[in-house]
Amino acid sequence: MEVIIQSNAEAAAQAVADFVALALSAKPDLVLGLATGCTMESVYDRLVQKHQDEGLDFSQCRTFNLDEYVGLAADDPCSYHYFMRRRFFDNVNIELRNTHLPDGMAADLQAECANYEKHIVENGGIDLQLLGIGLNGHLGFNEPLSAFRSRTRVQTLSRVTRTQNASLFPKPRQVPPQAITMGVGTILEARHCLLLATGPDKAEIVAKAIEGPLTAMIPATTLQLHPACTIVLDEEGAGSLRENDQYRRVGSLQNAVPRKSKVTVTQNRDGGHQQPTTTRKPLLAGKP
Ligand code: GLP
Repeated sequence: MEVIIQSNAEAAAQAVADFVALALSAKPDLVLGLATGCTMESVYDRLVQKHQDEGLDFSQCRTFNLDEYVGLAADDPCSYHYFMRRRFFDNVNIELRNTHLPDGMAADLQAECANYEKHIVENGGIDLQLLGIGLNGHLGFNEPLSAFRSRTRVQTLSRVTRTQNASLFPKPRQVPPQAITMGVGTILEARHCLLLATGPDKAEIVAKAIEGPLTAMIPATTLQLHPACTIVLDEEGAGSLRENDQYRRVGSLQNAVPRKSKVTVTQNRDGGHQQPTTTRKPLLAGKP
């Protein structure tokens, strides 16, 4: 796991958008896993900006969102379908037929979940999965006690989650009690996971997710098992981390590594090998 700490929420969102842009440039038909939530809004704003200003091309990109509420139609302003179209899809050159969200109105929800998994596999699996984190440590809508190997399924939302998301609905009691979510196992199969968390409210759960013991009670701790996971935080979100200094030190060392080149091993005069030097710059820089 790599922890990147940026000076503020804007810089953190920019780092995530830059990462997505690099991944998309490297693989134009990227299979991108998408997340919703207020934290992600500024990432989508920046991606739209990159499309408009720099011509970032989404024409071949395929997307799979993490989740959708059960019982909300795509044109319901509180649905994630609506959020994604308004914040992102309608503002870039993505083909709507290449965008996927679970259908919370499906007559057969179990079949819908199974089909969603099938679709991900048919598209070659998710290359890069964007993630936010709930105040209880949920990923997508994988609530506490979600199995590590869980797949896309219907989840009953916890009280914490319904309270957290209540401000996005006209009345708190209108938050649906259930949602379809990719499972923890589905998320962990993405080739790269990239979680963004900002603000003081997230500091405690972020510290538990990164440094705490692995537990199904905090689904985000399972990211510790992922071989390629990057966590991007702002100063406030990083506020409760014990090893805060170490992450900064590692981040800034990586930042010093120049971009794009090969590893070179040079010989000393006495025939011994010097330390290999690499010029490959990481996709995300450790400092703003
Ligand atoms: C919802 C989504 C989660 C997201 C969370 C974070 O619950 N289902 O995928 O991580 O919101 O929300 P916010 O960024 O608003 O704190």
